[in-house]
Amino acid sequence: MADKFGNKIAKDYEVNTPFANQGSFFVKGMQNMDWGMKARFSRIFNPKTGKTVMLAFDHGYIMGSTAGLERLDLAIPPLMEDVDVLMGTRGAIRTCIPPTCKKGIALRASAGSSVLDDDMSHEVIGVDIEDAIRLDATCLAVQTFIGAPGEKTSLENLVRTVDMGNKYGIPVLGVVAVGKDMERTPKFFKLATRMLAELGAHIIKTYYCEDFEEVVAACPVPIVVAGGKKVPEKEALELAYNAISKGAVGVDMGRNIFQAESPKAMARAIGKVVHEGYTAEEAYKFYEENK
Ligand code: R5P
Repeated sequence: MADKFGNKIAKDYEVNTPFANQGSFFVKGMQNMDWGMKARFSRIFNPKTGKTVMLAFDHGYIMGSTAGLERLDLAIPPLMEDVDVLMGTRGAIRTCIPPTCKKGIALRASAGSSVLDDDMSHEVIGVDIEDAIRLDATCLAVQTFIGAPGEKTSLENLVRTVDMGNKYGIPVLGVVAVGKDMERTPKFFKLATRMLAELGAHIIKTYYCEDFEEVVAACPVPIVVAGGKKVPEKEALELAYNAISKGAVGVDMGRNIFQAESPKAMARAIGKVVHEGYTAEEAYKFYEENK
């Protein structure tokens, strides 16, 4: 086992050197995957831009109804055309999303705690692989809690889901959670993102941080950036712009879209940053003109 203490500090991430094993497939680190998995990646990431806008509305699995998501059936369908992927629970997808939507589905595949728990790091695998296949899931999202009491169980959930995903050609989105006692430092995000990639996650959802380009460089699979608590629209667009500029291949955003003054204009503005190279200022102007 590697020594825990006294190791040399990792420092040279060669952030300006492109990923060396890209091959002919456009998604980072996925050139050796099978046809079916590559087909699903091509529904998650736009093959023209290589990027994605994921709309997260899985909040109910831990917090019940949330501002902006009081009525999933009314809130989500109007936003579908403006995003690439819908991230939700099977209960939400089956009941409130029309199967004609033609969007990628990031199926929430871990469950097991609620906002009423003091420690929300204990989860189980929440979806059977057969049900994920029935739902035509494009990827399976598993929450992980590095450094929290539920770390081991959450990593077990991840590796079991990766085994199932690899068996059937469904990518796994490893989600880096940040609980109240967990760090939000570059050191933590480098540790967590790299761990999840090496455990087999095909895409990582994590938070933006300082030295984000090093987090990206050290991670051999694509990273999408989480939105987090609602901030003013301009700030959320700046977050998206900074993340994309530093190497993220998309955002997976919930509250900063569906709690915006105009959720539809916000989803479109985020898309402008992610797919069309808008600066945060240009995207905010677009938002203001279209809200
Ligand atoms: C966290 O990763 C969970 O998936 C959340 O339920 C959701 O995706 C968070 O979205 P946001 O923080 O952008 O509202």
